[in-house]
Amino acid sequence: MTKAKASQVPRHIAIVMDGNGRWAKARHRPRSFGHNAGRKAVRATIESCLREGVQALTLFAFSSENWQRPQDEVGALMTLFVRALDKEVEELHGHGVRLRFIGDLGAFDEPLRERMQAAMARTAGNSKLQVNIAVSYGGRWDIVQAARQAAAAVARGELRVDEIDESRLGEWMSLAELPPLDLFIRTGGECRISNFLLWQAAYAELYFTETLWPDFDQACLRQAIEDYARRERRYGRTGEQIATVS
Ligand code: FPP
Repeated sequence: MTKAKASQVPRHIAIVMDGNGRWAKARHRPRSFGHNAGRKAVRATIESCLREGVQALTLFAFSSENWQRPQDEVGALMTLFVRALDKEVEELHGHGVRLRFIGDLGAFDEPLRERMQAAMARTAGNSKLQVNIAVSYGGRWDIVQAARQAAAAVARGELRVDEIDESRLGEWMSLAELPPLDLFIRTGGECRISNFLLWQAAYAELYFTETLWPDFDQACLRQAIEDYARRERRYGRTGEQIATVS
């Protein structure tokens, strides 16, 4: 397998990790079994990103809408998050990974929130790879929270309404300080964004694969990166213009 050139490795990858439930069902096991297998795929993907030199990885672990799932599944996911935090943070820290949680963290129980805060504090000084875990997150929620911050700045007299533009509002969006999202991956065969990083995905390359999340391994990520490396990113310009600039 050929390796993509360094400049062709996406700086920032986001993944909708879909298919845990179907993976478990095919094995006649409960959905939580699939989520647990999904956790192993998370670990393998982080290792792959470290190897590939990706700068940021953003994972959709729990959407604003996932609260509507059966209570026992939500409970199992929360237990899994707690276990993952207790088990994996020190190792991730050892690998130079900076962990961040994005989303409406206030929606979680205090013990889980404290673990998330502790993991963020513990790894805050790392810079090899930033891993963002989106929990109780929705792209529309993100835009609303940014708009609220802009409105609050206006109310305090620190900002004029006509000063609000894409760049100013973008500063309040989650992940604003990171490289722009280059590659948006969704596993599990559905071809939709499902209210994930709506603002941040404006110019991302989209990659959909039938592979169910627990089966997503190093070779799958490599394939996605190679596919990305073949794309021509035009940002609204023509192919000829891009050829002249580069
Ligand atoms: C979607 O599959 C997956 C989720 C809602 C949960 C994602 C959680 C993990 C991968 C667990 C580990 C995460 C971390 C950060 C430790 P689905 O249940 O919708 O699958 P289906 O479409 O086949 O039903």
